[in-house]
Amino acid sequence: MASSAVNSAIDRLANLQLNELSTSSSPNLHKNLSVLSPEQIELGKMLLELGQGHLFENWPEPGVEDDDKKALLDQVSLLNSSYPGGLSSYIKTAKELLADSKAGKNPFDGFTPSVPFGEVLTFGDDNFIQYEDVGVKQVQDAAFVLVAGGLGECRFPGRITRDIPIYTDVALPMETTTGTCFLQLYIESILSLSEASFKQAQGECKRDVPLVIMTSDDTHERALQLLESNSYFGMKPTQVKLLKQEKVACLADNDARLALDPNNKYRIQTKPHGHGDVHALLYSSGLLKEWKDTGLRWVLFFQDTNGLLFKAIPAALGVSAVKEYHVNSLAVPRKAKKAIGGITKLTHTDGREMVINVEYNQLDPLLRATGHPDGDVNCETGYSPYPGNINQLILELGPYIDELSKTGGAIKEFVNPKYKDSTKTEFKSSTRLECMMQDYPKTLSPSARVGFTVTDTWLAYAPLKNNPEDAAKVPKGNPYHSATSGEMAIYRANSKILQEAGVKVDDPVTQVFNGQEVEVWSRVVWNPKWAVTFADVKSKVSGNNSISQKSTLLVNGRDIFIEDLSLDGAFIVDSVDDAEVKVGGSVCNKGWTVESIDKDSTELPEEVRIRGFKIVKTEQLQQSYREPGKFTLKV
Ligand code: UTP
Repeated sequence: MASSAVNSAIDRLANLQLNELSTSSSPNLHKNLSVLSPEQIELGKMLLELGQGHLFENWPEPGVEDDDKKALLDQVSLLNSSYPGGLSSYIKTAKELLADSKAGKNPFDGFTPSVPFGEVLTFGDDNFIQYEDVGVKQVQDAAFVLVAGGLGECRFPGRITRDIPIYTDVALPMETTTGTCFLQLYIESILSLSEASFKQAQGECKRDVPLVIMTSDDTHERALQLLESNSYFGMKPTQVKLLKQEKVACLADNDARLALDPNNKYRIQTKPHGHGDVHALLYSSGLLKEWKDTGLRWVLFFQDTNGLLFKAIPAALGVSAVKEYHVNSLAVPRKAKKAIGGITKLTHTDGREMVINVEYNQLDPLLRATGHPDGDVNCETGYSPYPGNINQLILELGPYIDELSKTGGAIKEFVNPKYKDSTKTEFKSSTRLECMMQDYPKTLSPSARVGFTVTDTWLAYAPLKNNPEDAAKVPKGNPYHSATSGEMAIYRANSKILQEAGVKVDDPVTQVFNGQEVEVWSRVVWNPKWAVTFADVKSKVSGNNSISQKSTLLVNGRDIFIEDLSLDGAFIVDSVDDAEVKVGGSVCNKGWTVESIDKDSTELPEEVRIRGFKIVKTEQLQQSYREPGKFTLKV
């Protein structure tokens, strides 16, 4: 450092309570001032003021490990700038939340729960179809936001320590019949929806519907590589923006002292802050304002491994538009007391009101404590009146920006320390503050229009959350949320949609894979180009169609019409956009079978092993239409 810079740094410090720096916690920092830049010295002082002097406790003399000392303060600078309000705000909130946690304070004290307003949809009825129609129109005015910064430790335990340093679950196949990965499905769904939306809004200029992907250090590179090596799955690269979330500092004790990495005294331990970061990132990126200026009205948030979600998006977006919801939480019917959070209206004695996800283990006691002696019970529908939150949100952009202008995107946080014993004075391991995307409504005023849209679980929700071992332990009747059940859910949904459209699809058989009993339906998969709404499906199947349970049907083309098809085997049909193809007749062959595999077999890739089965392709009829024109296939 130039001597003038050193002097100015020292001068500044002189103004900044030098006394404080020579207290018992600071001599090591003090003697190293010449090593640091003025900005780093400021950060050092800030840390002392925040009671973080222990960070410098083991600093050696100047000249020893100087680069490491600077690296620590560089990390502090990043932690400070990437958190709304900086580290001082982080530590202040941490102290408050840790004190509340130690005191066993109930965050719901003073709140009374009640059922919020919302729309319960029945797949396939006129109401559903009308909402889908309205929703599709809105897609041209929507932006999509995928939160994909999570490490997926529950799905792949040990991922951090194994030699998969950077991974993203959106690269996993959502089903193995086609091998389509989640990200491809999401992007193709958005493209097809926006195409359909554009068609409806004839004459207006076509907009490239934006997609934001929130990544983290754990997932960023892999997500980018996945996009680049697949030509962004058909999107324009400019349409897709990756926003990387930073981790937050870990806390070593109830005084919110930052935890140093046990293997590196110059590194503060960090952990993910949670998907709630998405709001601050969107706000600080300037994208929200950009979207508003180009006339967008909606922002849709979704997660990395739910292969069904886009089947519910058009109708739910329609509900948002018709009901003018500022916040619309997608939900599924929920049996009382089942392990899924319930969308609940909370009213405080001080007048505060919010519509929010309340975790199932908090909802039941809260109801009991507020005049409902039986707690969470099913109502006349056979389900709890508090629908199950699936963490997909539709926000209206204008009110969203207004709110974030006040909060900067900061979301109410929580802390979940694991204490060593009942004195709650020490942690088993360091903790950190966390925040969740769905807690956004917590700061909204009571006048905000917050509602929900319920669709059937089979239609909308089959996330991949559990690894095979944990899934196999799930009590009977509860969802496995595994790769096995997630894939089977795709076939079930597509089969049921075809059934609703008048196709005779055989009943499923029950099989056990990786210790999980699942229904195996016909393997029906279509590309979103073929259909994004139920009305699309209905317009593309006619006559007497039947599909046997052992069958596989893959439809990959925009204008493929299925008429009087009897399928008992595997049939794959694909076409270019300008080809109009009518297929029918009787297709019978050995087909593709679903065969059990040993999940511990090292010969198979992990993405197959986590399912417990593989698709064996024995015989199929495959028809491709690569030229424009009208074609008929009558087998
Ligand atoms: P999960 O709650 O499943 O967390 O994330 P996770 O980190 O992916 O998985 P575990 O807990 O380690 O097993 C739900 C969604 O939120 C995203 C995930 O990528 C997933 O889409 N997420 C989670 C983030 O984007 N950032 C985070 O900090 C955490």
